[in-house]
Amino acid sequence: KKRVIIDTDPGLDDAIAILFALGSGHFDVLGVTTIAGNIGLDRTTTNAGGLLTFMGRGDIPVVRGTDIPLTRELQDLVAMVHGMDGLKGIELPEPAKAPLDGAPDWIARMLAESEPGSIDILALGPLTNIAHVVTEHPEVIERIGEIIVMGGTIHAPGNSGPSSEFNFASDPEAASVVIGSPVKVTIIPLDVTRLVRADIAYVAALPDTPHGRLARELLGVYLHNGRESRPLHDPCVMLAAIDPSIFKIENMKLDIDLGDDPDAGRLLVDRRGKPVDVALGVDTERALALLRTGFV
Ligand code: BDR
Ligand code: CA
Repeated sequence: KKRVIIDTDPGLDDAIAILFALGSGHFDVLGVTTIAGNIGLDRTTTNAGGLLTFMGRGDIPVVRGTDIPLTRELQDLVAMVHGMDGLKGIELPEPAKAPLDGAPDWIARMLAESEPGSIDILALGPLTNIAHVVTEHPEVIERIGEIIVMGGTIHAPGNSGPSSEFNFASDPEAASVVIGSPVKVTIIPLDVTRLVRADIAYVAALPDTPHGRLARELLGVYLHNGRESRPLHDPCVMLAAIDPSIFKIENMKLDIDLGDDPDAGRLLVDRRGKPVDVALGVDTERALALLRTGFV
């Protein structure tokens, strides 16, 4: 099993990713650290706790992170997609345990106490918490196995600015710190997450298990306004962690646009940039089939 820390802002697609991580049996989830993003930090933290409790894993620590980007103001929340509670009104049980505080310090402690290379970080939201680990705990970052990040776009249109993606645009400086760090980083950008889509038939055919039914409910509201399908952004990170061969991964030298333009946070291909692995293609059928196995 892969030992992972999930850093997340649930969020409908984050919720599917978390349910999959717990239901698939492929992961040993050491903790879930939270970040403001799809909705405010109180809500993402409660939602994370509710999801773990639903899965009977209220024992897994939920650790509150930060809601202040490294240098910028928190940008407008995306209530249109994820609703006022981040999960469009889908109710979860009360978290079994109160959250801990201080995600970056907690992550650093976990890394310090574990075998080097034995913990991967799966980042599903803005990268502020992880950037704090990199800048405040440089002694532990070499102990990270790898970081797999949902964020950015290479060729696909942006969903924040014309060419910028929400997670990176929410805290461009944090994205830059994480990508520029000495850790192995794999980026799962919009180019592939937009191709891995849940449509009405896929959702209807999800298994009739408790978490399969919850996934159906969450994806049902995600498919609002009669849309025929929706992208499964964050679950792609989980899939890449288990079976990277589903994706076509290339090594590219990348930087982040740190300007003040509407495209701040955009990925820049730059030969002086840091070499990082980027998923540029995906076998959609295999991706959707593997995702389904997490709900049986
Ligand atoms: C990313 O932004 C959030 O809205 C999603 O949860 C995903 O992490 C997609 O750009
Ligand atoms: Ca997310």
